[in-house]
Amino acid sequence: MSKDKFLKLLQQELDRIDGVKTAKRNERIITGFTKDPSPKGIINGKEVLIFNSNDYLGLRFHPELLKAEHKASEEFGTGPGAVRFISGTLLPHKQLEEKLAKFHKRDDAIIFSSAFATNLATLFSLIVGQSKDSVVDNDVLVISDALNHRSIIDGIRIANHPKEAKAIFEHMNPADLSRILKENVGKFKRALVITDGVFSMLGEIQKLKELRKVISEYDKKYERGILLIVDDAHGIGALGEHGAGSEEIEGVQADVLIGTLGKGLGSDGGYVVADQVVIDYLRESAATYIYSNSISPGTAAAGSAAIELLSKKQGQDLINNLKANIVFFKKLVKDNDLKMAADSKHPIQPLLIGSPEKTKALVSFLLEKNILVTSINYPVVAKGADEIRIQLSATHTKDDIKQLIDALLEARKSIEF
Ligand SMILES: Cc1ncc(COP(=O)(O)O)c(C=O)c1O
Repeated sequence: MSKDKFLKLLQQELDRIDGVKTAKRNERIITGFTKDPSPKGIINGKEVLIFNSNDYLGLRFHPELLKAEHKASEEFGTGPGAVRFISGTLLPHKQLEEKLAKFHKRDDAIIFSSAFATNLATLFSLIVGQSKDSVVDNDVLVISDALNHRSIIDGIRIANHPKEAKAIFEHMNPADLSRILKENVGKFKRALVITDGVFSMLGEIQKLKELRKVISEYDKKYERGILLIVDDAHGIGALGEHGAGSEEIEGVQADVLIGTLGKGLGSDGGYVVADQVVIDYLRESAATYIYSNSISPGTAAAGSAAIELLSKKQGQDLINNLKANIVFFKKLVKDNDLKMAADSKHPIQPLLIGSPEKTKALVSFLLEKNILVTSINYPVVAKGADEIRIQLSATHTKDDIKQLIDALLEARKSIEF
């Protein structure tokens, strides 16, 4: 049967993936969480301290979010029932968009089912017009940081933009962006510069201020200007005095800011905040907004509760705890001569290990000690830069962090790193 041949091909690919040891599908199942205030899940009947979650403020179990989610589900049901322009625009969606716009000091916001879906449709819409009648032409140079997230890469990919209209600037190198913009003056009417706000492998914060400066130098040389698009999925709810992300650290605003509710904000879904015309245009053109359901009303209400919380003392305390935990962790790292892959100011703290075998052994060792971390290996990072990615949360106690460091020191007796 031809189907068998088709499936055989897929099996061969699975075998190849297993062979190079990059398989991801045998995920660990968290069967529950403890009532402990620390982030502790249950895996194989054992309580484990979670050091690999993006829930940087520990909001996913916050009573305010849970209460808001339950109330909205009671009132509006468990799902949106339709896409937004049919009958799926519910009050919690509008309230969330208003709160996000205000939080990020923008005109308006638009929410999507995820940040991945946000990037796919937003980039497509801003690069090419949605239909053959669209007046938005594709006379645009698209410039992307070399280490941008897969959702950005795919957003650019699906726009099917010509090769000569796409450029990649060296990772976090504003001078290289300047070179590209200079070389292309007169060749394109407009340009888009797209970057992650935080690069999640090493916790690096993009140099947004410098990028903005470069863009302002060339802005007038492009007939229709240059837009800076920032996906700050890992920055929002993790960085800045008010948790507003890398923009707050860098003191500049993107023209189009993309975020997720599914990491530091403890809920789920993606969004864009920008000028009114950008948001209006996306509501008319973004395929994953028009043809795909939004988040459920409970999820939207939990997102709103997260934003509200950040403006209150309770939220501020969590932001301060997170910052104190980062400082505390870094001090213990220094005192104990542990090597980091980068000097990160973000709750992502990458411990340099050096080989896939050692990272694997270390992850297993730590799991034996009831600690959950993630290994990041080549090709995601350079060969020899294999790391253990530690993600801190506001709800880790100092004892939790000490427990992690003690386990690492014990591991160092048998695994060299
Ligand atoms: C930069 C960036 N963008 C987008 C996403 C996807 O976010 P979501 O889970 O909301 O689709 C991630 C998550 O890994 C990310 O790191």
